[in-house]
Amino acid sequence: MRAHLTIDPHFVVGEINARLFGSFVEHLGRAVYDGIYEPTHPTADEDGYRKDVVALVRELGVTAIRYPGGSFVSGYRWEDGVGPRDRRPRRLDLAWHSTETNEIGLNEFATWLQKVGSEMVYAVNLGTRGVQEALDVLEYANIRSGTALSDLRAEHGSVEPHAIRMWCLGNEMDHPWQLGYGTAESYAELASKTARAMRQIDPGLELVVCGSSGAGMPTFGEWERVVLEETYDVVDFISCHAYFEPYDGDYGSYLASAVEMDLFIETVAATADHVKALKRSAKTMYIAFDEWNVWYLSRYTDVERITDAGTWPVAPRLLEHAYTVMDAVVFGSLLISLLRHADRVKSANLAQLVNVIAPIMTEPGGDAWRQTTFFPFAQASSLARGTTLELKLDCPTYRTERYGDVPVVDAVATHEAESGSTAVFLVNRSLTDEVAVDVEVSHLGDVRIVRAQSLHDADVHAANLRDDQERVGVQDNATARLDGSVMRLTLPAVSWTAVTLE
Ligand code: AHR
Repeated sequence: MRAHLTIDPHFVVGEINARLFGSFVEHLGRAVYDGIYEPTHPTADEDGYRKDVVALVRELGVTAIRYPGGSFVSGYRWEDGVGPRDRRPRRLDLAWHSTETNEIGLNEFATWLQKVGSEMVYAVNLGTRGVQEALDVLEYANIRSGTALSDLRAEHGSVEPHAIRMWCLGNEMDHPWQLGYGTAESYAELASKTARAMRQIDPGLELVVCGSSGAGMPTFGEWERVVLEETYDVVDFISCHAYFEPYDGDYGSYLASAVEMDLFIETVAATADHVKALKRSAKTMYIAFDEWNVWYLSRYTDVERITDAGTWPVAPRLLEHAYTVMDAVVFGSLLISLLRHADRVKSANLAQLVNVIAPIMTEPGGDAWRQTTFFPFAQASSLARGTTLELKLDCPTYRTERYGDVPVVDAVATHEAESGSTAVFLVNRSLTDEVAVDVEVSHLGDVRIVRAQSLHDADVHAANLRDDQERVGVQDNATARLDGSVMRLTLPAVSWTAVTLE
């Protein structure tokens, strides 16, 4: 099979916002406790954070981290997580049927973010709480001093304000299992009141209103319209959430998951533009894809298991998914979809970061290691700079059950004018065939291949497990070469490839 693509730096889709390479840490399972925080671990620093995890998060290149949930936030009282640790209450976490010890809260998480060099994106609870609590946490976090809550923060040891710019107005409020779930109208009213009130403290905040928790939700489309009609003038982003998995061993469709992601983004953008027209507004609503990943959700029974047992464990092993080579290729194609929509998707959060459907795994007292999905993310976050380019891609298609005919190869290119560097990310979705790709690079001028690396394996179900942590990684793709103005390379079946040119 053969594919052809043309790169031209003049055809710009949009600027890549650094926040596209965000992630997500929820008080869920072992994400926080035993994940980022384990005071008895041999690598723990003076604050109890695992240095091995900090190093991996830095290597991953995560720019912004959404916190503290997720579904957890819809029952969370932020005050529980601040002040002297020995006075913090233990609470039932209804979302994950666990006990929250509150050892880590806003101030500790801000400290950890400094160590990993990431920005905080904070979600307020609009499930069981409302306007006043959102104002309180904003005052506590961001006001320098001289008020009850800002002085309390200083008393708690965080003298400098946290300066959080981006705030999520609740989480997945369209989903019946979310605490406080209601109609689009009731959520829209609360989100609008909360946004207006928060802007009275700081008009410059960047606010994210909840869109749908998945494109398959029965209210999808209408939810976005209703919510945006009420909030358009007071928010900056609408959220999208999507998780992908194979159904009944249909790997052909699974490898084409990005088709669904593309459509999701484009449908939400179209709905937002419809509201923009209704409002005669000059403002463009951006998308915060603030939860995305591969997650074998339909096989997921961990919480049911805990619930059945009638226990409320502390930091149980939940959603600990071992990602395969094929998962990493699908994951890479989701990254391609996000980059392809860089004009509209200005923020995205890989859900999640450590232990819970995560690129990084840890064992208590033991190792921290990279899952297969770590590699595409780390490559994209370090190489995708500047703008996304419109690609002319000519390639064979294959038939899928879920999405009809789909191109065998998916690709995106990014270009940074100042440095002259270009990155190309490609996936080969074929389960059986390698694809020879010819990339026309004459419009880039004189370029050389800096590096070409692929992730693939004869066993597409291979994973990096506790006892075999480095089974899968990226390798140099030795087929990449320049032939005049054409870069030629071969993509193995079921593979992810990243190429840099300059
Ligand atoms: O990321 C795991 C969970 O998935 C989040 O808590 C929730 O928002 C989503 O349904």
